[in-house]
Amino acid sequence: MKFFADTAEIEDIKELAATGLLDGVTTNPSLIAKSGRDFIEVTREICALTDGPVSAEVVALDHATMMKEAEILRKIADNVCIKVPLTIDGLKTCKALTGEGTMVNVTLCFSANQALLAAKAGASFISPFVGRHDDNGFDGMQLISDIRLIYDNYDFGTEILVASVRHGIHVLEAAKIGADVMTAPPAVIKGLFKHILTDKGIEGFLADWAKTGQAIG
Ligand code: G3P
Repeated sequence: MKFFADTAEIEDIKELAATGLLDGVTTNPSLIAKSGRDFIEVTREICALTDGPVSAEVVALDHATMMKEAEILRKIADNVCIKVPLTIDGLKTCKALTGEGTMVNVTLCFSANQALLAAKAGASFISPFVGRHDDNGFDGMQLISDIRLIYDNYDFGTEILVASVRHGIHVLEAAKIGADVMTAPPAVIKGLFKHILTDKGIEGFLADWAKTGQAIG
């Protein structure tokens, strides 16, 4: 399962990239606004921090303008993945861009039928928003499960990128279902490393080691 960081914060991305476990980055207009940075400039910096895909989202709603925006964004770096919304115009744009060999992440997916359409449009990634799905009284993980089943039925190459991840249980459930990628805020990814029994275990081992009076090396 690939791990993407859902952020436009350079320091967080650097920290996660240094673990060797980061496979890409996703951004959206809200995350760019939160960073307070220039969109093109920060995207260029992020692209230099990872070899993996970096999603940069168009903001136009019509196909022609989406294509113009995508043209600007894909020139930033070879690993830019154009993010388009799951609308008719977004999927037209997806089909055109992937036909030209550009990676596309179709975002704001809230139903398995939408995911089916994105796969038919040749999307590189489909982004179902599990957290927002749960927030609105739906079962986010059931959505991931349904999409997995449909994509496997037809051997679609579109990768399921679980988005709007809020906690470790989302990551665990997505991995059990066999989602290809998950994108999460840095704090959620860092939380995956932690377990109270790991901390307690280290504490106990170090206390016992100190009693031996030995050193390694
Ligand atoms: O980047 C898209 C998605 O991950 C947003 O998550 O937490 O704003 O619902 P959230």
